[in-house]
Amino acid sequence: MSLKEDSENMELAECTKNPGFQDSDGGVSVEQPAEQRLSTVVRLDSEYKQLEPFAGMPKEVLLLYSSQARYRIPREVLFWLTLSCALALVAVTATVIALSPRCLQWWQVSPVYQVYPRSFKDSDGDGVGDLKGIQEQIHHFQYLNIKSVWISPFYRSPMKDFGYDVEDFRDIDPRFGTMKDFDELLAKMHSNGLKLIMDFIPNHTSDRHRWFNLSRTRDPHYEDYYVWTDCNATSQRPNNWVSVFGNSSWTYDEVREQCYLHQFLKEQPDLNFRNLHVRKEIIDILVFWLKKGVDGFRMDAVKHILEASHLRDEPQVDPDKPPELIINEWDLHHDYTTTQLGLHDLLREWRAEMNVYSREPGRYRFMVTESYDYNEVGKTMMYYGTPLVKESDFPFNFYLLDLPQNSSGSWVQHLVNIWMNNMPQGQWPNWVVGNHDKPRIATSVGQGYVRVINMLLLTLPGTPTTYYGEEIGMENINITDSQVQDPAGKYNTSASRDPQRAPMQWSGDVNAGFNNKTNITWLPVHPDYKSINVEVQKRDERSVLAQYRFLNTLRQAELALSRGWFCYIHADENVFSFLREFDGLRKAFLVVLNFGKEAAITDLSSVSELPEKLEVLMSTMQASDGRVFHKSGIVTEEGEGLLIQYSTHTRFNPSHPGACYISEKACYLEVVDILYTC
Ligand code: GLC
Ligand code: MG
Repeated sequence: MSLKEDSENMELAECTKNPGFQDSDGGVSVEQPAEQRLSTVVRLDSEYKQLEPFAGMPKEVLLLYSSQARYRIPREVLFWLTLSCALALVAVTATVIALSPRCLQWWQVSPVYQVYPRSFKDSDGDGVGDLKGIQEQIHHFQYLNIKSVWISPFYRSPMKDFGYDVEDFRDIDPRFGTMKDFDELLAKMHSNGLKLIMDFIPNHTSDRHRWFNLSRTRDPHYEDYYVWTDCNATSQRPNNWVSVFGNSSWTYDEVREQCYLHQFLKEQPDLNFRNLHVRKEIIDILVFWLKKGVDGFRMDAVKHILEASHLRDEPQVDPDKPPELIINEWDLHHDYTTTQLGLHDLLREWRAEMNVYSREPGRYRFMVTESYDYNEVGKTMMYYGTPLVKESDFPFNFYLLDLPQNSSGSWVQHLVNIWMNNMPQGQWPNWVVGNHDKPRIATSVGQGYVRVINMLLLTLPGTPTTYYGEEIGMENINITDSQVQDPAGKYNTSASRDPQRAPMQWSGDVNAGFNNKTNITWLPVHPDYKSINVEVQKRDERSVLAQYRFLNTLRQAELALSRGWFCYIHADENVFSFLREFDGLRKAFLVVLNFGKEAAITDLSSVSELPEKLEVLMSTMQASDGRVFHKSGIVTEEGEGLLIQYSTHTRFNPSHPGACYISEKACYLEVVDILYTC
C-alpha cells in the first residue's frame, strides 16, 4: 500500500489517468471535470518529464493515445489487412497445390535405355562386357540426356540363357564383376542423376540354383519349390505343353524320378508359385535389391509365372495336327500355362512391397512387365492394374515391333493405335522397337527408316525404350552356325538372338572400342562399325545420334511433347501425321512422318487449327530444315520425318476428342507461368 502511494506521489501527481481507469483496490479514482482533463493532457505535452533512465512509456499514457481514433482506426485497418493477406496467401498456396498437376516422374521424362551387359563395354578384356564397363560409359547416357537405364541380368548364372538362368539372385556373376562393382556402379549412376532398373526373373531359376538341388533331392522344405509331376524316363511327357524355346516343357529328372516343368530351357526350371515359401523367397529377393537402392525392376516373362495345377493338355491351334508334331509355342493356345488366375495378385504384392521403399522423395521404385500377348492386347493392359490397385507403371508395348511388316503411314498409325485405343484412361504409354530378343529395327526396316523411327519414338506421348545401339542405327550381325551362342539358336539358327546382341559400336578402333585390351569379343563386331559408331556420329551434327540427342533434349524441354495432347491428324499409304499440343500454351508441334516407299505431298488444309504456313524445326533429312510449307502441300521424302513447330490460339483437341489422348490433363497459365489441373 505504501509503495502504491509512493509511486503515485512520485509519478502521477502531475500526470493523468486513463478516463476509465479504476484503482485496482476498487477505490474510485479521483474524478476530474472534462476541462481539467483536457488541460492535464495539454500540460502533459509540455510538462511530462522523462525519468532517467528511460523506462518506456507508462501504460496509462499509451492507453490514452491508443484509444484515439487516429491511432485506433489505422491500427485496426492494418491488423485486418495483415490477417486477410495471410489468410489469402494460405488459400492461394492451398489452391495452387490442389490444382497443380503432378510432376512427371523420373521414368516418364526420358527413354529407358536398355543395356545388354555382355555386349555394352568390356573393361577387362575377356570379351564379355561387364559392370565396370557400364560405369566407364556413364557419360554416354548423359550425352544422350537419358535418365534411366535398364540393365539385363547380371546375377550369378551358368549362362545357358545368358543370365536369364539365375543360380544366385543375391550375387553378381564373376564375368560381370563383383558386388562391389555393382555398388559402385549404382552409386555413380545415382550421383550422376541416373536411375538403375534391374531385370528380375521370378518365373524360373537355373537348374544349378541351390533350391533346385534341394528340390530334386526332396528336401522337405524345398520339395515343392518347382513344378513336379509323375512321368517316367521313357514314356510320354505328362501333357502336351511346349517350351517357348521349342519341344516339351517337361524334362525327366533322374535323381527325383519325376518330370519338372520348364517354360523356357530345361536348364530353367519353373518355380512353383503356389508354394507360399516360394512367394516369400521372391519378395525377400526384391527387398534385398530395394534395400541396396535399385530404382526399379523389369519383370521378366510374367505371363508364365503360374500354370494350371490340373495339368490338362492345352488346345491345339490346328486340331488336326498329329500330337507328336506339337513342338512349337505357336502350335497351342496357352490357356493353362500363361496368364493364370492369381498372377495379378502376385504382381500387386510385389508392387506393394516396392511402394514401401518408394516413400522417400525422389525414391519412387518403378516396375515394367514383360508379356507378349500379341492379339490379346487386353491381357497386356491388365498389368497397369486398376485405378485403385496398381501393378506395373507400364507393361512393355511390343506392338511397334511389327513395324517392318508393312511400310505405310496407316500401318504405323494402326500399330500406335493398338496401344492408345486400349490403354486404360490416365495411364502412361511406352514404345519398344527392339530388345535383346528381337531383330534390330535398323536391319528389319533398313537404314533409310532409322531416323524417322527415332523421330516417331521421341515425339509420341509416353516413354520410349532404346535398346543399346538404336541411337546410332546399329544393325544385326550375321551369324554362322558355328558362331551361334544363343541356346534358342541351337535348336534353329534362324531363331538365334545373337544377331541383335553384337558388341556396342563405340568407335572405329579395334573391336569398335567395345574391348580395347584383347582381340576377343564374345560375338563378332558388326563389319560396318567404322562408319556406324558413337565417336564418328558425335562429330557429325546430321548423324542419327545427333538427331536422337536433339529430339530427346527437345521433348524434355517442351511441355507439349513431354506431357501434352497427342492427336491423330492424318494417315495414308506413306505418311503418318499427328500433333502435340498443350492447353493454354501457344507453342505446339506437328509431326509428319513418311514411312512409305516414295515421296509424298500431304495436304492438311482441312485442319483449320493449323496455321497456313508451317516452318520445319527439324527434318531427318537436311534439305528440309527451316523450310516453310503451305499446309496444303507438306513435302516429305521416303523415310523422312518433319518436326514442325507452330504457334496457335486455337487448339485441336477440344473439337476432336475422339482423335486425341492425354494421360493427365493439365493447362498452362501464361500470365503467372504455372501449370494447373483443368
Ligand atoms: C524373357 C527374356 C529372354 C529370356 C526369357 C527367359 O523373355 O527377355 O531373353 O530368354 O525371358 O527368361
Ligand atoms: Mg569383361
